[in-house]
Amino acid sequence: MKYVYYVLHYILKRLNAFIEKLKLWAYRKRYFSFHNPRPDDIIVATYAKSGTTLTQMILYQLTSDGNMNFDHFTSVSPYVEMALQNYVKLDKLPSPRFMKTHWSYENYPSSLEGKIIHVVRNGVDVAVSQHYHYASVFGDANFQATFRNRFIGMQKNWFSHVKGWYENKKGYDILYLRYEEMVADLEGHVRKIAEFCNIPIIEENMPRILERCSFKFMKEHQEKLSPYPIRKISDFVRKGEVNKGLSYFTKQDKEDYMRLYDEHLSPIGFDHYKIE
Ligand code: A3P
Repeated sequence: MKYVYYVLHYILKRLNAFIEKLKLWAYRKRYFSFHNPRPDDIIVATYAKSGTTLTQMILYQLTSDGNMNFDHFTSVSPYVEMALQNYVKLDKLPSPRFMKTHWSYENYPSSLEGKIIHVVRNGVDVAVSQHYHYASVFGDANFQATFRNRFIGMQKNWFSHVKGWYENKKGYDILYLRYEEMVADLEGHVRKIAEFCNIPIIEENMPRILERCSFKFMKEHQEKLSPYPIRKISDFVRKGEVNKGLSYFTKQDKEDYMRLYDEHLSPIGFDHYKIE
């Protein structure tokens, strides 16, 4: 019997080593598939749940007739880190490619060219949105668990993610946007994005662009926009509320939020989303 356990253990060990090699290969392949950067690439770089899809939609509407005849938005505007899993061939996309990434600044491959749009949102609302996201994907039904394990608990938490992009130590060409300002003045931000990306605006298209980037339109089409199958715990285009998340926070949550805020963001003068 001892011998059987020994053999089983050996087989599992070998299998594990093989799977690790396979994972490494896939990881490299994923990066490799992006390795033909183009000078007109546009990357929407965000911490998730910060208005990424809205920004991608603005770019899509600006650069196309805005039809929704694709199977999934990923095929139009891929998620770089997931391109391999999603079977998206980045090299086949027409220019300008606009893609999203949730990479931290430190992990962002410096070999990439092009322009970066960074969108930031009130961390309090991000934490709530993230909770509903994970409730839908993994069934994490408890706000506290998501907040503790993911929002503040991950090695790259929201605070250090935002900090890295704001410091921009490598000097990338970045347009900084804030979600709250974007939803308050959608047209102004469509124009800002177009100007930054050198995309000419066809004025007669503006009503269509605004209509299709609206919360209502995107909610109606969320099945095609969501990066994961929507289980009806929560919508992907959910509420889009601004500065409303604090009611989810306990006193301890607020203290932990501000402790990390003061550690990472206060020293660089990024004061937009402090809890009073
Ligand atoms: P909520 O969960 O707070 O509703 P991301 O695309 O980065 O994952 O961001 C998702 C958040 O953006 C969700 O926030 C979603 O509802 C909101 N959102 C999506 N489309 C939007 C739109 N057209 N206008 C305003 N907010 C939008």
